[in-house]
Amino acid sequence: MGKRILVTGGAGFIGSHTVDQLIQRGDTVRVYDNLNPQVHGENAIKPEYLHSEAEFIRGDVRNRDHFKKAIEDVEVVIHDAAEVGVGQSMYAIDQYVSTNVQGTGVLWDILVNEKHKVEKVLVASSMSLYGEGSYQCPEHGKINPKPRPESQLADGKWEMLCPECALPVCPIPTDEDKELNCTSVYAQSKKDQEVYSLMIGKAHQIPTVACRYFNCYGPRQSLNNPYTGAAAIFCSAIKNDSPPLIYEDGHQRRDFINVKDLVRGKLLLLDHQDSNYGIFNIGTGKPSSILELAEVLIELFGKNICPDVIYKFRNGDIRDCYADISKINDLGFVPEFTLKQGLEDLVAWSDKQHAISSVKDAHQKLVEKGLVLETQQLAGK
Ligand SMILES: NC(=O)c1ccc[n+]([C@@H]2O[C@H](COP(=O)([O-])OP(=O)(O)OC[C@H]3O[C@@H](n4cnc5c(N)ncnc54)[C@H](O)[C@@H]3O)[C@@H](O)[C@H]2O)c1
Ligand SMILES: [Zn+2]
Repeated sequence: MGKRILVTGGAGFIGSHTVDQLIQRGDTVRVYDNLNPQVHGENAIKPEYLHSEAEFIRGDVRNRDHFKKAIEDVEVVIHDAAEVGVGQSMYAIDQYVSTNVQGTGVLWDILVNEKHKVEKVLVASSMSLYGEGSYQCPEHGKINPKPRPESQLADGKWEMLCPECALPVCPIPTDEDKELNCTSVYAQSKKDQEVYSLMIGKAHQIPTVACRYFNCYGPRQSLNNPYTGAAAIFCSAIKNDSPPLIYEDGHQRRDFINVKDLVRGKLLLLDHQDSNYGIFNIGTGKPSSILELAEVLIELFGKNICPDVIYKFRNGDIRDCYADISKINDLGFVPEFTLKQGLEDLVAWSDKQHAISSVKDAHQKLVEKGLVLETQQLAGK
């Protein structure tokens, strides 16, 4: 039988796909979302794509009274609401800490002190908690290095080197036990969210799961928000015949997962008792470079443009990180989409959208705030 489920941030990208899959399988869904202007535009109304059977409540996760009403009669809370953006979080600090940390505090304060029926909580966490991923050194085996030293980056040497022997190292899958090393306010705020949720859930015996999403892409990711999601940012540039802007040399690797796969993984964690109080990576387990992402998108749009590789380091960025998905795989999760198949979906959708690419302004803002490192290496070298 279906459950009554609250999805915070359910008007957003991942949240709205979560709503669709929940309703499709027979759950009753309520969305709680403040329609953050950076994501939904100024004076936004409920997005058209939001499933018609979902109940929509406009509200802020920091507003205890409103939030309490939204929680009152639900059995599950999926907490996806957040400010999302690594670079921006390094100067818009209050904005990130208040929604992500305080908002999660409000959720748990309600769950601990008010009457409710909540039996399980899923909290959206992030691969950004890891900082750098795991690597293999030919001499030292598996290593979990700290961020690359600034002196190395200033010389335009982008690849990770072994901190012991300075040999170049190869990325390997990153598992949930890897030591966390947050390199941005966003990552730290998501870590706080995760730690508070698991700690309080456990103490009050409300089964809680932290889902560490890797880089998610797909239809409905905001094309006008220059701070989130490389795939969406590249789409809005390419659509407008501008070259996608790429930091470093473009060979940094991530784990790009199609939103439909990601949501399937998260619903599996919701349904499985063995996930309770656990932490799970949700990714594809396969690395792809940022340049590859840009090139596949350019090809799918059929445009004749070259990515603008700027050979500069953006503060807080890591070199490589992709998921070890054995833990969620043991519960039965297998991602279905290859990168190209998954991106076809995104391109078909974004082709029909009106998008303003404000990525240059976003980059300029980072430069003004001293968050982009000037390097010795010349563009194009
Ligand atoms: N997109 C990714 O690749 C990715 C990766 C790792 C983790 N995550 C996490 O997944 C979750 C969803 O991200 P997304 O990519 O769908 O982003 P999104 O911006 O599309 O969705 C977030 C939603 O939260 C809402 N929101 C923001 N502040 C709020 C507040 N104070 N009160 C109520 N609602 C608020 C926004 O209006 C938006 O609809 C977030 O928690 C994010 O940290 C995303
Ligand atoms: Zn070594």
